Amino acid sequence: MADNSVIERAKEHFGGLVEQQLERVERLKQAPAPTDYSKISPIVIGMLGGDGIGPTITYESQRVLEQLLDDEVKSGKVQFRNIEGLTIENRAAKLQSIPDDVLAEIKECHVTLKGPTHTPEKGDGWPNIESANVSMRKALDLFANVRPVRIPAENIDWTFFRENTEDMYALGSNGINITDDLAMDFRVITTQGSRRIIDAAFAHAKKTGKERVTIVTKANIVKTTDGKFLDIAREVAENYPGISWDAWYIDIMTAKLIDTARRSDFQVLALPNMYGDILTDEAAQIQGGVGTAGSANIGTTSAMFEAIHGSAPRMVTEGRAQYADPSSMIRAGAMLLEHIGFPEVAEKVNMALDVCGQYERKAVTTGRNTGATTGEFGDYVVDTVSDSGLKSKWEGYVYAN
Ligand code: IPM
Ligand code: MG
Repeated sequence: MADNSVIERAKEHFGGLVEQQLERVERLKQAPAPTDYSKISPIVIGMLGGDGIGPTITYESQRVLEQLLDDEVKSGKVQFRNIEGLTIENRAAKLQSIPDDVLAEIKECHVTLKGPTHTPEKGDGWPNIESANVSMRKALDLFANVRPVRIPAENIDWTFFRENTEDMYALGSNGINITDDLAMDFRVITTQGSRRIIDAAFAHAKKTGKERVTIVTKANIVKTTDGKFLDIAREVAENYPGISWDAWYIDIMTAKLIDTARRSDFQVLALPNMYGDILTDEAAQIQGGVGTAGSANIGTTSAMFEAIHGSAPRMVTEGRAQYADPSSMIRAGAMLLEHIGFPEVAEKVNMALDVCGQYERKAVTTGRNTGATTGEFGDYVVDTVSDSGLKSKWEGYVYAN
């Protein structure tokens, strides 16, 4: 017979979480209208370097953005702002995943470009504070994690819409060791949270002329939460009669991404947070590695752009930080440009990265001294993006056969 006080303690813990989440649902029902950047001047872009390889790769992206937005900075339409203090040293000293003063500065910006930050895990010597990414996504309600992967030569053009505030992440730091032997974590999926990410995926498909949205769950096993995600997809799909949709389970989906005969059929994918975390690393690897993929964290009133990978502490301890690929942060910069209303400039950056990283490859980063340094690759992208013949060069490669 279980000790009653153990059960009571667990119930109380669970009750507190339910209360918090019900309050959150009420807040979600009152979502503000999305920001219209065309009406804002100046648009303030905050830059946060992060940890490990973060500052170096973020700097290369900043260079590209500053070069391309030079006129806008001069005319006062755009302003860059450096924000210090989102480092593991400062976060550990303050025992806060995002120190209050840093969060206040972030909130004063319309969008941020953020280098990867170290996520403490049990036993690594840092206090076990929550991941800065996860905190920022929650604090600013950045619900849509948009992760594109494109390989023109293979006709791959995927856009993942990963839900960014719920699932195992919502209460990832609030699990409970009920006894020494029994540990429980909690998974949260809401109607509102599911609807907004699935709707964003369908809206993106419609806007970009895509015909298909794929929903990924494990609803055959995780019946209640994934079941809800799928039910909401069914409802949202009815509002988009021109777009077909289908549902896949996460296990077979990971297999299909490496099925070269089928994978280019997928276009826009929407999925809960954790499956999205895993599947987008796989997709990025297919594109050339996690170092090549950028990520947008979009909310209604704020947005943060980052690499999809971490701060690579192993590269730093092995003395290889200066060989990190900055492509991920430059791709993130392109997404930032598109988000604040410069889609043509963003497309130029993407073309330059396709040319530099996938076709011409005059400088290649390998993550070690066998390849180009971060700065050398950055120079290469800066030169390529400002080449007036970029578009025809890109078309030459992409339509070559
Ligand atoms: C990502 C990362 C983060 C996540 C980590 C660093 C917390 O893996 O952005 O995919 O799990 O979301
Ligand atoms: Mg990840």
